[in-house]
Amino acid sequence: MPFSEGAFESTMPAALFSLRGRRALITGAGQGIGLMLARGLGMAGAEVVLNDKEPARLDQAVAMLRREGLAVEGCVFDVTDEKTIAIGLASLGRGEFEVGGGIDILINNAGIHQRAPLELMSTAAWQAVLDVNLTSAFLVTRGVVAGMLQRGSGKIINICSLNSEISRPTIANYAAAKGGLKMLTRAMAVEWGGRNVQTNGIAPGYMRTEMTDVLTVDPVWERLICARTPAGRWGEPRELIGAAVFLASRGADFVNGQIITVDGGLLAAL
Ligand SMILES: NC(=O)c1ccc[n+]([C@@H]2O[C@H](COP(=O)([O-])OP(=O)(O)OC[C@H]3O[C@@H](n4cnc5c(N)ncnc54)[C@H](O)[C@@H]3O)[C@@H](O)[C@H]2O)c1
Repeated sequence: MPFSEGAFESTMPAALFSLRGRRALITGAGQGIGLMLARGLGMAGAEVVLNDKEPARLDQAVAMLRREGLAVEGCVFDVTDEKTIAIGLASLGRGEFEVGGGIDILINNAGIHQRAPLELMSTAAWQAVLDVNLTSAFLVTRGVVAGMLQRGSGKIINICSLNSEISRPTIANYAAAKGGLKMLTRAMAVEWGGRNVQTNGIAPGYMRTEMTDVLTVDPVWERLICARTPAGRWGEPRELIGAAVFLASRGADFVNGQIITVDGGLLAAL
């Protein structure tokens, strides 16, 4: 719809970026980036469903966000297992929002690393990383998108990586998965863009989370990341909230198939 005076109020930033009345699902949200994005979307007004495969971790995360006054609930399933995904989504459905768990915003965030030199990498390590970082986004989105298409609106955000673009030794499985996730993002954008479902990605740089603990405790890596990043430091998960709220909001209704890199400038630097 072209811009009209009547539409002015809904373009005021507070309304444009408000997620009030929206229901979001974030996978792998028991800790780290997913948990921080749940907090961010909740603070922007969304009702947030946190998923994780670790029930105790998920309970703790949900309890913490509830204490902060946010409208959240937990939903345990393994993002690689289509049966448990279906059971989880069915448990969320209600009333007119029966299909796909009634989810308006989906963030495919769950991810793992299993590092090994490529020539020594086991098939199991290759497959596990592909399953959790790439195939999961296909499986969970397929479960959720039917409801978005039925209601004629939805936002899907895939958490990609700098390794969607560049690699380094010992992470070939992860780079292959995140590169695939970038193209899956574009494929979803093309597939559903005509039905008002937008799909975009966020590519975080090096952020301090449990996943990167192994690097942050290593002084050589610590120095390398700081030297390589124009910002001169690691990122904090909360610095991804702005991009996530934007992509989940009406402000991004005409943004589709893009990857927003949030990396302190690393990817721009040689
Ligand atoms: N931390 C970084 O610097 C960084 C950089 C780029 C991209 N990423 C991506 O961001 C996402 C989150 O990373 P993080 O650093 O918060 O990781 P993290 O290890 O701190 O948290 C990941 C969460 O996902 C959950 N999870 C793992 N496998 C799952 C499964 N099969 N089903 C459901 N939940 C599962 C874990 O239990 C955990 O709670 C990942 O996709 C990661 O690849 C992280």
